[in-house]
Amino acid sequence: MSGLDITFSRSAKAAGGLAVLLAATGGKLGSAAKALDPGKVLAKAFKVSGFTGKPLSVVDLLAPARSPADRLLVVGVGESIQGHELLRLGGTLEAQFRKSGKVTVYLDVPGSAFAPADAASVALGMLLRSYRFDKYKTKKDEADGDKPARVKVTIVTEGAAAATRAFADAKAVADGVALARDLVNEPANALGPVEFAAQAKNLQGLGVKVDILDEREMRKLGMGALLGVAQGSPRPPRMVVMQWSGGKAKDKPIAFVGKGVVFDTGGNSMKPASGMEDMKGDMGGAAAVTGLMHTLAARKAKANVVGIIGCVENSVDGNAQRPGDIVTSMSGQTIEVLNTDAEGRLVLCDALWYCNQRFQPRFMIDLATLTGAIMVALGHHHAGLFSNNDDLSGRLTAAGLATSEKLWRMPLGPDYDKLIDSKNADMKNIGGRYGGAITAAQFLQRFVKDTPWAHLDVAGTAMGSPATEINQSWGSGFGVRLLDRLVRDNYES
Ligand code: BES
Ligand code: MN
Ligand code: ZN
Repeated sequence: MSGLDITFSRSAKAAGGLAVLLAATGGKLGSAAKALDPGKVLAKAFKVSGFTGKPLSVVDLLAPARSPADRLLVVGVGESIQGHELLRLGGTLEAQFRKSGKVTVYLDVPGSAFAPADAASVALGMLLRSYRFDKYKTKKDEADGDKPARVKVTIVTEGAAAATRAFADAKAVADGVALARDLVNEPANALGPVEFAAQAKNLQGLGVKVDILDEREMRKLGMGALLGVAQGSPRPPRMVVMQWSGGKAKDKPIAFVGKGVVFDTGGNSMKPASGMEDMKGDMGGAAAVTGLMHTLAARKAKANVVGIIGCVENSVDGNAQRPGDIVTSMSGQTIEVLNTDAEGRLVLCDALWYCNQRFQPRFMIDLATLTGAIMVALGHHHAGLFSNNDDLSGRLTAAGLATSEKLWRMPLGPDYDKLIDSKNADMKNIGGRYGGAITAAQFLQRFVKDTPWAHLDVAGTAMGSPATEINQSWGSGFGVRLLDRLVRDNYES
């Protein structure tokens, strides 16, 4: 994924290359500064530049006098640094050292103690920031200039051996996020439902059991809602069932379900041309589920986990479904399709029903780029959280705060549920003009029975969200770190 080689060491001779030091508030430096800055040039540099050790502020010295390093980079960490800030530090560092071949990072600053897991978090931040989607660029990026093919990073820290072990898990997370980002960034001509399923099938290499349902099998199961969406595209749908069995054999699995609309034209209720290209990312939920399964398997999570994704293209040809069509879902409930652009819920309702029926999971969490309305409500900084279970909701919210993949809980209730009652069928696939993210969630709730369930509307966070220290990619991979954390903190035996 990236040209980063990261290792951990208890000590390092600072000879040549870039040396990174951390500074606390007031520009206070750790013990490594003595050897690296014998000429005490940093104190003067701090003064000249007004550097006070503010978090993630930077002083960069080239060819510092009398230093054994070729370049000295100092990054502020404020009073102390912990949790998600460690990832942001790693990301900030990677952006600075990208053009260096050899980098030594001294994790040592007055006021902060770096546990092995903290060192691994800094490394994870580096990996996440180093992600590029450039496979379709045939010319070298000007901005990259004479960037070295590989950057050798040594992180100097007390518990280097334990940090190396913790880094294996971090690497699993970084790879899962990169997979999710790749899937979202990939254009729809290259990634149809069949190609998506093939990508998921690759997880077999990590020990994940992967079954792929084709159109015939889905028809036999009665998935009329999903198939109605798929019928307007020459590219057939696929449902992928991924199973990771890292827990005790008797433990019921936990389940994640993703919307995998590889492209959403809107169908006959077609979307306007402007911005339609973004709909190549309408499989962000399925990408997150696939990335999550990669991460859990790669780090051998001690949990039984099911991942299900519904992969379809919402396109329009002579056979595409029409507004007013009535379809029968796998649950037996009938749906009047009043708007063919409200297709995600039609895909998910069959995936959720199938998941619940086949696995009787402890809970189901679905992720979907489901509505524009959630962006109107929450912008790009929180995903919408809808749930029938306060406990699951609380755990998700906590995982969101810990990973900075933030969630905001939205309401559900009978008053909203009424809005999708239909005159001609059991329900219609759109509500009224208002509360569009909520009526979409109400629709899904009709397919989960009493199973604890949460729905994450990631339309504003899975793609096109603002760049951060750890993500510069259009497809963000939102959900992988969040749900990995949820599993790690609550559901491993
Ligand atoms: N995939 C879209 C939602 C979306 C919009 C995701 C923009 C990301 C960015 C979804 O299928 C959709 O079209 N939803 C409609 C629902 C409406 C027809 C009730 C919407 O939000 O406008
Ligand atoms: Mn749509
Ligand atoms: Zn859609």
